[in-house]
Amino acid sequence: MSILLIGATSDIAGEIATLTCAGHDIVLAARRPEATSALVADLNKLGATSVHVLHFDATQLGTHRELVKKAKNLAGEISLAVVAFGILGNQEQAESDEAHATTIATVDYTAQVSMLTVLADELRVQTTPAAIVAFSSIAGWRARRANYVYGSTKAGLDAFCQGLADALHGSHVRMIIARPGFVIGSMTTGMKPAPMSVYPHDVAKAVVDAYTTKKKSTTVWIPGRLRVLAWIMRMVPRPLWRKMPR
Ligand SMILES: NC(=O)c1ccc[n+]([C@@H]2O[C@H](COP(=O)([O-])OP(=O)(O)OC[C@H]3O[C@@H](n4cnc5c(N)ncnc54)[C@H](OP(=O)(O)O)[C@@H]3O)[C@@H](O)[C@H]2O)c1
Repeated sequence: MSILLIGATSDIAGEIATLTCAGHDIVLAARRPEATSALVADLNKLGATSVHVLHFDATQLGTHRELVKKAKNLAGEISLAVVAFGILGNQEQAESDEAHATTIATVDYTAQVSMLTVLADELRVQTTPAAIVAFSSIAGWRARRANYVYGSTKAGLDAFCQGLADALHGSHVRMIIARPGFVIGSMTTGMKPAPMSVYPHDVAKAVVDAYTTKKKSTTVWIPGRLRVLAWIMRMVPRPLWRKMPR
């Protein structure tokens, strides 16, 4: 049984890989395969049965199915597929540069939809149970003026994933939809941590817990108490909401 990490240089994907690799064949799909060597060494040390590295650029939508097929050929049926690629982008730039706005939309929505569709289709025909992990975000719960381009992609992705989870109900493929808050890591370098911030390891642990303990599709807030903040967020009047910082 193999584990496929797509966007393998992601902080969160790396942590998921280290938590799950023992006794498994691992496939790392990365835009910069050369940047995975430290992770490959760690996974081998931690007891991965094999570690394969494949090149993957999410914006090349036509390559998505080929990547998943290659992973299956190299490492066998996939028990866990983690879709971890993403960009925060630059909101200020995206407000006047439509090419940048559409790059964020392509990587964080269109390419996610493409890859999740491929994964659902390819994993459904396997003979063994499997889980797909997708990363939504608190940013998609209610789009903020300060971060609405990225936030809108997460809102769309979250809706897509909820529907996909229902579509997979009754099959042996389940969805784990992660909704982290602010994660202190590469993506947020230089930004002031928001309340209830977590680290990549916390996100990975919550995802792996859901993978190992739940038998069905699930949505996981990280940290769990973020759901209370989310409930309050929806009630904030718009004149106040539009002044919210990132
Ligand atoms: N960090 C947060 O605060 C936070 C909060 C909520 C949700 N999330 C979501 O969680 C997921 C993982 O985030 P993270 O914090 O682990 O991010 P990260 O450390 O910044 O990693 C992002 C990954 O996406 C890859 N990537 C970007 N564009 C790509 C492309 N065109 N093709 C292939 N790979 C591409 C990056 O590759 P390179 O290394 O080559 O750039 C990197 O591996 C993302 O979907 C993110 O939106 C993050």
